Amino acid sequence: MKYTVLILILSIFFNNQARSQNMISGGDFKDTDGNQINAHGAGVLYYNEVYYLFGEIKKGKTWLVPGQSWEDYRVPAGGVSCYSSTDLKHWKNLGTALRSVTGDPSNDLDTGRVIERPKVLYNEKTKKFVMWFHNDRNDYQDSKAGIAISDSPEGPYTYLGSIKPNNQMLRDMTLFKDTDGKAYVVYSSEDNNTMHVCLLTDDYLKPTEHYTRILIDRNRESPALFKNNGKYFLITSGCSGWSPNAASYATANSIMGAWTEIGNPCSGTNAEQTFFAQGNYVLPINGKPSNFIFMGDLWNKLDLEKSGYLWIPFEVIDGEVKINN
Ligand code: DGJ
Repeated sequence: MKYTVLILILSIFFNNQARSQNMISGGDFKDTDGNQINAHGAGVLYYNEVYYLFGEIKKGKTWLVPGQSWEDYRVPAGGVSCYSSTDLKHWKNLGTALRSVTGDPSNDLDTGRVIERPKVLYNEKTKKFVMWFHNDRNDYQDSKAGIAISDSPEGPYTYLGSIKPNNQMLRDMTLFKDTDGKAYVVYSSEDNNTMHVCLLTDDYLKPTEHYTRILIDRNRESPALFKNNGKYFLITSGCSGWSPNAASYATANSIMGAWTEIGNPCSGTNAEQTFFAQGNYVLPINGKPSNFIFMGDLWNKLDLEKSGYLWIPFEVIDGEVKINN
């Protein structure tokens, strides 16, 4: 499916009607210079009343990795972009937060590798900004996290290296900072069969040995974790490469579990395909404790640079997630 045209609905975001209106739908998501925003598999850091959007820079020709049993389409990994906004409507391009390198396949940041789903947290104790992302070979067999650090939100980030938490595979991932300042990495592990939630060290730079296995044998990816009213919510997708599938969400009273699967948070036309998107982050809207934005990617597997975005505001009502297109 092609997402060339598409509608940019800049709605009145924070009124009651916003729930049923997409903020962004399609390929046409421009920064304040009028250029296409290039921030896929994104995440958002809210710091000093500014939203910082981080995402994969996908630039160049899409190609298919030979000899794979699945549609392993790749585009050069262009590093991690950063945009800022105070109103979630106008996004200023702050440049490349983490640079990739060319022509050095042994370097984790080489354009021929995988730099996906970057997420950034601010550490109050060290006063540093910490980035984690999925770092991999183009056949996804390294399955590890890359970690980088910066003194300022927009970077540049200094790459520290990569790790497999507790020697476990890490593919699609997200970071989550709890209200007590503890932070966690949540990731598809065990060949995408099972997810793990792993507590980070106090400086957020390393995994601890304290981790739990969740959604066991459920084959989920693209985790997006948020908290509402003391309860944890985790929205995931199924595993079908770049093709859309049904999202599902689970809830827990403790981040380390037990997690209970609830079902598809989406309803309406094309809810079984998550409206053709795959989630990348759930953004809590500042000052609106029950209001969130489900952020997703509209992958264009044959031309990944042209992949679009779908952002849908939603509320948690009586403990239930309802995302309507
Ligand atoms: C689905 C993942 O969620 C994406 O981040 C990406 O790794 C694709 N698979 C690759 O097919």
